[in-house]
Amino acid sequence: MTRQPLRLAILEAERMLSAAGVASPRTDAELLAAHLLGVERTKLMMVPLVDPPVVQALHDLVRQRAARVPLQHLTGNASLGNVTLSVGPGVFVPRPETELLLAWGLATLEGVDQPTVVDLCTGSGALALAVANARPDAAVHAAEKEPVALAWARRNADQQAQAGDTPIHLYAGDVTDPMLLMELEGTVDLVLCNPPYVPEGTPVPPEVRKHDPHEAVFAGRDGLDVVRHVIASAARLLRPGGGVAIEHDDTHGGSVPALLSARRVLSDVQDHTDLAGRPRFATARRTRTEPTA
Ligand SMILES: C[S@@+](CC[C@H](N)C(=O)[O-])C[C@H]1O[C@@H](n2cnc3c(N)ncnc32)[C@H](O)[C@@H]1O
Repeated sequence: MTRQPLRLAILEAERMLSAAGVASPRTDAELLAAHLLGVERTKLMMVPLVDPPVVQALHDLVRQRAARVPLQHLTGNASLGNVTLSVGPGVFVPRPETELLLAWGLATLEGVDQPTVVDLCTGSGALALAVANARPDAAVHAAEKEPVALAWARRNADQQAQAGDTPIHLYAGDVTDPMLLMELEGTVDLVLCNPPYVPEGTPVPPEVRKHDPHEAVFAGRDGLDVVRHVIASAARLLRPGGGVAIEHDDTHGGSVPALLSARRVLSDVQDHTDLAGRPRFATARRTRTEPTA
């Protein structure tokens, strides 16, 4: 059995992924090789030669990736903050852009002891678990409507609790329900939400179209069907001075701030851009004193 240079196997993988239109073929080729070999991507150069079965296994993974199966479904995980989450069919894969929303939320909690945090539309549990990891003193509550996604969130929550993080409170809940998390009304320091927000009919890459659940991505003709309910829930749940952050489509840089501003109990409305300068999430605070009529 002749060992083969890993470098050549990765070059061939990059070529196949590039031909299939994968956006970052070299990165994906290296991440798949690292996953297969159980090493960090930065340590791949320390594996100069591999056995033919490894080359074959890499080829099999690359074939699936070339068929536009998401990278994270092949490796089985994705990350947000300092947390690694198990992901797969039936749950939305957390995206790097959500790091910005998380960072805003954690900065908002600075100086708040034992904060109460709510993650609406939690999916894999990503935002809730990243907050629980960064703020062990927080009471984190997370709601998700879809049973399959909720099962992934439970699995991730169990993994994080076993690793020593503060357990989170998970609920099977629909954000359109005006009674959702009623027991927390007026007490929450921070509401975070990455809801479905893509306008129905918008073209999306095959990874999203075929592998992210439809209800995790699309939200009505204008993409705001779920956001409207998230804003209503946040207005009800936040304590005076508490903050809310909602990720949105890059076409929503005007509409989501306008919906937030339309709530009398919310103020300090701002929109935030991502590293590419695209509108990415909106924030507001619950007004400290009740506005007069
Ligand atoms: C874009 S995904 C985000 C998941 C996770 N927050 C993240 O950032 O990875 C949106 C999630 O909202 C859930 N969802 C959609 N409509 C909902 C509703 N009405 N109530 C609660 N969850 C909902 C979907 O099932 C999906 O898991």
